[in-house]
Parts: sequence; C-alpha cells; structure tokens
Amino acid sequence: MRVGFLGAGLIATYHSKSLRQSGAETACGVVRAGVYDPDTERAAAFAAASGHTVCATEVEVLDTCDAVYVCTWTSEHPRLVAMAVERGLHIFCEKPLAISLESAETMATLVNAAGVTNQVGLVLRRSPAYLWARQLINDAAAGRVMAVVFRDDQFIPTQGHYASTWRGDKALAGAGTLLEHSIHDVDMLRYLVGDISRVSANEANFHGIDGIEDAVTATIAFDNGATGTLATVWHDNLARPSQRRVEIFCERRFIVIEGDDWFGPVHWTDTSGAEHSLHGEALEVAAAPLTDGSLNPDGEFIRAAAAGLPSWPTFDTAVDAHRVVEAMYASSRAGGAAVHLQY
Ligand SMILES: NC(=O)c1ccc[n+]([C@@H]2O[C@H](COP(=O)([O-])OP(=O)(O)OC[C@H]3O[C@@H](n4cnc5c(N)ncnc54)[C@H](O)[C@@H]3O)[C@@H](O)[C@H]2O)c1
Repeated sequence: MRVGFLGAGLIATYHSKSLRQSGAETACGVVRAGVYDPDTERAAAFAAASGHTVCATEVEVLDTCDAVYVCTWTSEHPRLVAMAVERGLHIFCEKPLAISLESAETMATLVNAAGVTNQVGLVLRRSPAYLWARQLINDAAAGRVMAVVFRDDQFIPTQGHYASTWRGDKALAGAGTLLEHSIHDVDMLRYLVGDISRVSANEANFHGIDGIEDAVTATIAFDNGATGTLATVWHDNLARPSQRRVEIFCERRFIVIEGDDWFGPVHWTDTSGAEHSLHGEALEVAAAPLTDGSLNPDGEFIRAAAAGLPSWPTFDTAVDAHRVVEAMYASSRAGGAAVHLQY
C-alpha cells in the first residue's frame, strides 16, 4: 500500500503522524511514497520527518501511489481528486471538499462511480466525546432530543500558529468561519441530532476581509422536531485557539460537551439529579466499543483501502454538510430568511 501526499502543511503532518501511531502502517505494509507541495521547503521538511520522497509534480505523486491524501488548501481539492480518480486511487480528502456545493457533489459522484475507498477529514465522527454524547442522546432513558446549542470560537487562523495566508483569500478558502471551520459543527449537529430540514442564518465580517465572514449565527429545525442554534466566531483573542461547547437538551437528560474536542469532558445530568462526567482515557475506553475498528481516522482509512472496502465518513457525508452550509449562506444573503433543505 503505497501512500502519497499532496500538500505538506499542518494537516498533512497531522495525518502522517496519526498514521504512524495507528498501527495500520505495519499491518498493511505501508510504503511512504511521494509528497508534492509547491512550497518546496515544506515538502522537504515533511519528507525528512516522515520518510516520504519529494516529487517535482502532482502527477509524479499520483503515478506512484495506491492511496493519496489530498491536504492542499480547499480550492485545489476538486482538481486533484479528479486526477486521483482517473488513476483509480483510494482517496482521503480534507474538509471542506470544495469551495462550492456543486463541486463537492461532482467529487462525490466521481469517487462513487469509480468505487474507490473514499474518506473525508470530518474527523470528529471518531471523537470519543461526540461518540459518547450520541450514545447518551440515543439512550431511551433520555427521552427525545428537544434542543441543541452549539458554540464554536477560535482566533482567526490568518494569525497565530496557523499563520495561514490562504484562509484570508476567498478564491482559495471559498468563505470564512462557517465553511472553513464549522462544516465540522454542521456535520456534528447532523450526527448528534439528525437531518436538518430548515435553517435561518445571519453573518458578519468584522475583519473586513473580502468574502471571509467571521461571525455566523444560525437557527436550525431538524426533521425529528428538535431545534438548535449554531454560533461560530473568528475573533482576535489569541488565548482561544479553538473552543467548542455543545449543550444538548433531551426530555429527561441534559448533556454538555466541552474542553477538548476528543477527550471532553462530557457531563450529563438525569432527571434523578444524578450528575455524571467522563473525560480523557476513561472517555476513550467507554467510547471505543461504539464504533467499528479503531478511533484513529488514518489507520481506518488505510485498513479499508488495503482491503478494498468502503471507509467513513465518506464524500457523501461531506456533501450533506456542504448542503446545510450552503443553505445557511443562502439564508444570510436573503437577510436571514428561512431556507428549506432537500436531500
Ligand atoms: N480536518 C481538520 O480538522 C482540518 C484542520 C486543518 C485544516 N484542514 C483542511 O486541510 C486543508 C489544508 O489546511 P492546512 O491547515 O494544512 O493548510 P496549510 O497552509 O498548512 O497547508 C496547505 C498546503 O497546501 C499546499 N498546496 C497548495 N496547492 C497545492 C497543490 N496543487 N499541490 C500540492 N500542495 C499544494 C500549500 O503550499 C500549503 O503548504 C484545508 O482544506 C483545510 O480546511 C482540516
């Protein structure tokens, strides 16, 4: 299983390290193949740390691997995924899939038609905190889920340790905090509560960067009757790199996810007044049986690709999140009018 990388930045480095830790590298006989990044210093540093070989072009990477990670800035994903599909490669593509819903749909159509293993970087689907919270919601003792309050804030990632220039360029990133960051949150709202039938949203642009909104609030109606709100903010408080807090109200249970996206804690209170909490290793141990395979997204991608099996979350899952994000932008453009979703 020869694995290549397109893009050698922050998230490529994360996946390379995570694959090493997963145990799948040895189990599946992974060969660290090519890496390409137009930033040659980055490509060289990545190769030196990971054992990949620097390639001079994208084509060279694609022609010498069986599975490829597409970890470039967002606008490049559709073109590179199409090239990978032409070669029948298994594909891990970062989120967002593309800067538009239409492109994301085309990408999903391509990978599905080719029948290749495809996975998207919506990694919270394997987070112990979210897996555990979902189990608490689905437990009959909780009753029906009634409402959710989802807050996500981080300093605008054109600064700090991200120091990302492309996130301030709408041609490369597509948009601001909602598409670039909170597509994760939209995916988790669907994962925790269910399909979304209607949204209404407002956005603001305090930093004045063209096309890069930095505050969005949305109200959400779910198919199952639950209601929700999402607030996502890119501010300048460098002490807050990325913070999520999710409050879920069921008929007979109240659940909070806070702290670390992976290790919680998750708190919950039942109608008896008993208070419970899980975090860290205990949360990981509790959540592990709730999913097939391991909690490592990279190990599971490579295992599935080596076996020629489907993996998850798929491009189709990402398209569902893109559809909601696009509806929120459409609502905002229409002054917050309700936008109905069709699946
Ligand atoms: N899943 C997550 O939690 C998560 C976290 C961070 C970033 N991301 C996503 O990952 C992608 C990359 O983000 P990042 O933070 O790693 O950015 P980054 O700036 O650290 O790295 C992106 C790299 O892509 C390179 N690049 C651009 N065009 C290329 C091409 N055609 N071929 C090869 N390399 C190319 C750039 O030179 C740059 O080095 C974005 O889509 C972003 O939204 C996902």
